Amino acid sequence: MLDLEPPAHTRLRGLVHKAFTARHIERLRERIAQLSHQLIDQMQPGDDLLPAFASPIPVIVIADMLGVPTDMSQQLLDWSHAMVRMYELARTAEMETAAVQAAVEFADYLRGYVAQRRRQPKDDLITHLIAVEEAGEKLTEDELISTCILVLNAGHEATVNVVGNGVAALLQNRDEWERWRQDGVGLAKTAVEELLRYDTPLHQFNRWVLEDLEYGGQMFKQGTQVSLLLGAANRDPAQFPNPDQLDLTREKNPHLSFGAGIHFCLGAPLARLELQTSLPILLQRLPNLEMTAAPRYRNTYHFHGLESLLVSW
Ligand code: HEM
Repeated sequence: MLDLEPPAHTRLRGLVHKAFTARHIERLRERIAQLSHQLIDQMQPGDDLLPAFASPIPVIVIADMLGVPTDMSQQLLDWSHAMVRMYELARTAEMETAAVQAAVEFADYLRGYVAQRRRQPKDDLITHLIAVEEAGEKLTEDELISTCILVLNAGHEATVNVVGNGVAALLQNRDEWERWRQDGVGLAKTAVEELLRYDTPLHQFNRWVLEDLEYGGQMFKQGTQVSLLLGAANRDPAQFPNPDQLDLTREKNPHLSFGAGIHFCLGAPLARLELQTSLPILLQRLPNLEMTAAPRYRNTYHFHGLESLLVSW
């Protein structure tokens, strides 16, 4: 879906969008809250917040949503990590082989589930993707499987980065942490948008130039590739007053962290729900959270996130 152009993209996205409804997303709210509490109950001072809190929530939620058992979540994560390394600039032949193997294994695993859901439909995303139809069009088996894989990869990696980058930013701006902690869910909407802007989790995306164009005094020739620096756009002083300041009450916040145009992130409502639900719980439950080491960023290309976030309280 990410790489398709209209009309193929319009058709595929339209079908998937029909299965990805607000009702399906909203009913995950309770599950996200329960999971957040459960993970905090298990956390120990000195833990790394990424594996202890940030990483499990999105993958378990997506497993739930798809309708695959949550005890598969570690395996789903391993496949996802291997596959997204295809986005690296300096990828090796070994990384490519591992990514292909992960894709093959993941697809085989899902094929079994799709067959099962065709026989026994349930109220889950795989069943809804099987059922969606528009103007006589349905998803093919390959489209269905690649969509499930995209939802896992796209839905997991960036959300983890927002929690990691966001908590680090809040702990480095303690006043903002306190402000949100005291305000609770009231501030959640603007706070999450600001964390998405401030330390952009997917900071670069590419586009192909489909026709010659002049923009901002630059000529863009058909057929060339343009790198869009979402992270830089999100700190544009022409759009954001005091762009380098973390301001959880920022009202006007037209950030580009979910992209723009026809490929705008399909999972944005789910990502927002996860972040608006889990982060206030973390702040309430661990009000004295602090970092025990400076956060280190992973050396990655599209994704922009931490390697680890060691915390105590
Ligand atoms: C904070 C978390 C997330 C961020 C920052 C993010 C960001 C993005 C970005 C930048 C794009 C590309 C937009 C473009 O090319 O213009 C995208 C596309 C997409 N995202 Fe997300 N995403 C997040 C979470 C999710 C979740 C939770 C899901 C699903 C469960 C998801 C599913 C998708 C899909 C399916 C696309 C492809 C849309 C298309 O090509 O039409 N994303 N996302």
